[in-house]
Amino acid sequence: MSNSMLTQATLGDFLHWAEDYFVTSEIFYGHGTDNPWDEAVMLAMHVLSLPPDIDSSAMQMQLNSQQEQELRALAERRVVDRIPVPYLTNTAWFAGERYYVNQDVIIPRSPLAELISQHFQPWLGDGQPKRILDMCTGSACIAIYTAKEFPEAEVTGVDISEDALEVAKKNLDLHKSNVKLVQSDLFSNVPVDKYDIIISNPPYVGSQEMAELPPEYNHEPTLALQSGDDGLELTERMLREARNFLNPGGLLIVEVGNSWELLATKYPMLPFIWLEFAHGGDGVFLLHMEDLCLQN
Ligand SMILES: C[S@@+](CC[C@H](N)C(=O)[O-])C[C@H]1O[C@@H](n2cnc3c(N)ncnc32)[C@H](O)[C@@H]1O
Repeated sequence: MSNSMLTQATLGDFLHWAEDYFVTSEIFYGHGTDNPWDEAVMLAMHVLSLPPDIDSSAMQMQLNSQQEQELRALAERRVVDRIPVPYLTNTAWFAGERYYVNQDVIIPRSPLAELISQHFQPWLGDGQPKRILDMCTGSACIAIYTAKEFPEAEVTGVDISEDALEVAKKNLDLHKSNVKLVQSDLFSNVPVDKYDIIISNPPYVGSQEMAELPPEYNHEPTLALQSGDDGLELTERMLREARNFLNPGGLLIVEVGNSWELLATKYPMLPFIWLEFAHGGDGVFLLHMEDLCLQN
């Protein structure tokens, strides 16, 4: 597939062309894939409506000129405008499931999926959570997946952004999920119910780190990434407020990414348990409800 339009290009031609194009560009990977080939495959899956499990025979598939043009245009937007593929396709994957995304939510990539798949073990023990809160729900991927894994539990997703909640609603429909959505600035509008688990991937980027992020991140909402100057504003509020919303023995699980060292330094009296993930990701802490009174 040269730069001039071919009438008989195959899917394989496009994938190899796009891979070369991406390799020679400066694009940053980190929004669902970690290599140029997978980026090209994601674009092709979208334009050609292919299932995720295509085999190598699909490489011979002939593209018509409209498909080829569309694929080239998307690849160009990826390179020139540095738009992450999930925003070009309105599709992201979380825990093996498809989610609708647009630029009102971040692209799902939280390591919390692994913890949910393991049913919060060993921390949850034999307990059967009745109520789970996903604070800062965005696309609602965490809330929806948690509700699938715990069908007996009532799961609530909270976000301050009306636009993000519109995306969350779309995903609830897509997954036929009964997650409840609440628009709220953290806990301010959350009914004082007691939860067994509060899970959260809040914004946690500081202003300096924000300024240094690759251009791909500029397409994500700043509200979803930045949290005050040091990245910890929301997390510190959660540490102060979560206790009132947790049952005795309840768990607070929060992702803080690179801000974890600063958090640990600021709260030396809190017995943070820093979780480890087989599939990568760090900076996720777990605290028990009883620990939260130790911060003052
Ligand atoms: C990092 S995104 C996480 C989205 C989703 N949970 C995920 O893991 O993909 C953080 C979310 O927090 C929301 N948010 C920001 N400030 C908030 C606040 N004060 N109260 C509630 N939600 C807030 C943003 O709108 C954004 O959707």
